[in-house]
Amino acid sequence: MSQVWPLFTNIDVDYGENIHLYDRTGKKFIDFTSGIGVTNTGHCHPRIVNAIKVQSEKLLHGQTTILYNSMLDELSHSLQKVLPEKLNCFFFSNSGSEAVESAIKLVRHATGKPNIICFQGGYHGRSIGALSLTTAKSVYRSGYQPLMPGVFVSPHPYFKQYTEEDNEKRTRQCLEELKHLLNTQSSPSETAAMIIEPVLGEGGYISPSESFIKGIREICDKHDILLIFDEIQTGFGRTGKYFAFEHFGVIPDILVIAKGIASGLPLSGIVANKKLMDKWIPGSHGGTYGPNPLSMAAAIETLKVLEEEDLINNSMHMGNYLLAELQKLKNEYPEIVDVRGKGLMIGCEFVAENGDPGTFIAEKVRKSCLSKGLILLTCGPYNQVIRWIPPLTIEKSEIDKALTIFDSALKNSLERE
Ligand SMILES: Cc1ncc(COP(=O)(O)O)c(C=O)c1O
Repeated sequence: MSQVWPLFTNIDVDYGENIHLYDRTGKKFIDFTSGIGVTNTGHCHPRIVNAIKVQSEKLLHGQTTILYNSMLDELSHSLQKVLPEKLNCFFFSNSGSEAVESAIKLVRHATGKPNIICFQGGYHGRSIGALSLTTAKSVYRSGYQPLMPGVFVSPHPYFKQYTEEDNEKRTRQCLEELKHLLNTQSSPSETAAMIIEPVLGEGGYISPSESFIKGIREICDKHDILLIFDEIQTGFGRTGKYFAFEHFGVIPDILVIAKGIASGLPLSGIVANKKLMDKWIPGSHGGTYGPNPLSMAAAIETLKVLEEEDLINNSMHMGNYLLAELQKLKNEYPEIVDVRGKGLMIGCEFVAENGDPGTFIAEKVRKSCLSKGLILLTCGPYNQVIRWIPPLTIEKSEIDKALTIFDSALKNSLERE
């Protein structure tokens, strides 16, 4: 067992098959984590396994500053089909954090400006640059500070359930705070970019209003500041659209992608307009491994599977169903203070009797579900939110099974029997 990392479960995993995981004793679990939003096509989709097998007999490493590989073009073309025309140039790497680092380096290089504005509650990764933009929980930052300078944090209109204010009023206040920040701390002439997850992930599965995201875009445009969307968790159908930005009618200048792109193999990247990407002097950024040929083969096949199995629509329909069913449970259990989400990225937030965040209840319910064979994760600054992120291949009957377990875990944990 790992001595370093806290484990959410003690499952000694043997293999995975679509929405299920099996431990070495043969015990079966329903996986509503997708390995933190990665296995959107389900565990070990046969078509993706086959693509990796075929590629593994051809080439395992083809260093991209030494060799050209037409798979790069194939992957870029497949991605281009699902992206706006403006986002037409790609830089690939391995992990999400690495891609966020690329975005930081590109905006600084391209604009000659030092500062980046991020938003309260955001999660962008663990490497020092990405961590500097991460404010989802103190535990991620503690012991590593001081972090990268030139980062400013603006408020996010989250946790509306804890305030008396309506969402639109809170949104307007946050946009005013953002303008104030530009006026008092990081002037537009020093601000290279703003970065946001269109739907907060680790920060609590919170989708702001369309006017918040549109407002940020307007402020960026007015001041010639680049806008980066971190869609590492929200991308590839997770929210019921290919990318979450489609919900808001806003296109970023740089899109950061990872997780769902390659169904479990390490691949990430940034996408921007070629004119912007061309400001990167060749040789000024790169790495040994990214993109790996096996990951590219997995990604090319993943994009085909998402399309041919209509998984983005399935995410929307199954997400709507799951959301409605969880809302019914919210009506039964006052400890559930909020149920929210888009597509198959749904958060169920708990509150304690005294009004504090329901950390203890969420953990008790999560553990009870686990003992009954359902794997769920928590998120939010207090781990008070249970998040539902199953593979996008999930069917209604499987959601029903998970809900039955969840309901019984609620009954056990809240002593309603
Ligand atoms: C929105 C977001 N950005 C960045 C990251 C970091 O990605 P990685 O863990 O691959 O470095 C994550 C990982 O959970 C994420 O959800």
